[in-house]
Amino acid sequence: MSEPVGVITKINGKSYIIDKHLKSGGFGDVYLVSLQSDRTKKYVVKKAKEHETALNLFLLEVEYDRIFELNLKKCPHIVQVDGFIRGINNDNKEYAMMLEEYAEGGDLFSYIEKVQRNTSLRLNVEKLYKYVFQLVTSVECFHNNHIYNMDIKLENIVFTDKDRTNLAIIDFGLSKKDNFDICTDGSGTVDYQPPELKQGRSEDYKNVTYDGSPFTCSKVDIYSLGKVFNYLEGITSFVNNIKIKEEFKDLINNMLKSDPKERFTISQIKDSDFFKNHWDLA
Ligand SMILES: Nc1ncnc2c1ncn2[C@@H]1O[C@H](COP(=O)(O)OP(=O)(O)O)[C@@H](O)[C@H]1O
Ligand SMILES: [Mg+2]
Repeated sequence: MSEPVGVITKINGKSYIIDKHLKSGGFGDVYLVSLQSDRTKKYVVKKAKEHETALNLFLLEVEYDRIFELNLKKCPHIVQVDGFIRGINNDNKEYAMMLEEYAEGGDLFSYIEKVQRNTSLRLNVEKLYKYVFQLVTSVECFHNNHIYNMDIKLENIVFTDKDRTNLAIIDFGLSKKDNFDICTDGSGTVDYQPPELKQGRSEDYKNVTYDGSPFTCSKVDIYSLGKVFNYLEGITSFVNNIKIKEEFKDLINNMLKSDPKERFTISQIKDSDFFKNHWDLA
């Protein structure tokens, strides 16, 4: 059930007014809110679904902790979190909410839909390559901090500004933390998942679990990011009819290698011809 517009909610001692319901996900609801004392200050609230078990509430808290840690470490192109609250509402139900910066440009999935409908909104190569550099530096930073997103996709990447010059990764709800980069299970989005993770997929496609043997978490993120680049490349070359550098296509192929051992690491991505020859565009 979504919260009505106008409801006032308190997070870390400050009051926020719900302006608009933005999205409902499997996980919960996302709202646009404004600070009650200054309605020009906009934020986003992610509210966990109320559940029979406290699992969703706990997972939102884990997500908040991971993003907070990455903000502290000054990882670039990650959404800024501004607060978290867990409490009991009037119906005696537990709830949890996370406050984040409002990314005004919306998510990359909605943007691509717009570009497909309206080709005057061109995604040119300069912009495309800038986005690529931003996302790689972001992933490099959270991997260096032993955090793996595990659900990188167009819907989980947003533009923080109206002009769409700056991207941020938002959703760490399925992220993993492991000092040795070893994962034993993973859920995520089928279209973006590498083959090693799909082997153990359950038949209903919903509860994606691996069959038991461990795999390298970072290589899952690299594959998903390769898929994101592939979509962006497709839009630029087919919808906007712009020629893409072969070096970029090679990079994508190396990020989408089926064998995780052959798939590029972040250092290999940064050492690639594409990165070396186009870093001036970053
Ligand atoms: N900080 C934000 N600014 C703008 N839009 C956001 C923000 N956070 C989430 N959204 C929107 O809400 C959607 C769902 O948020 P997300 O954090 O990915 O939740 P879920 O875990 O349900 O996927 C995103 O795809 C995006 O469109
Ligand atoms: Mg999401």
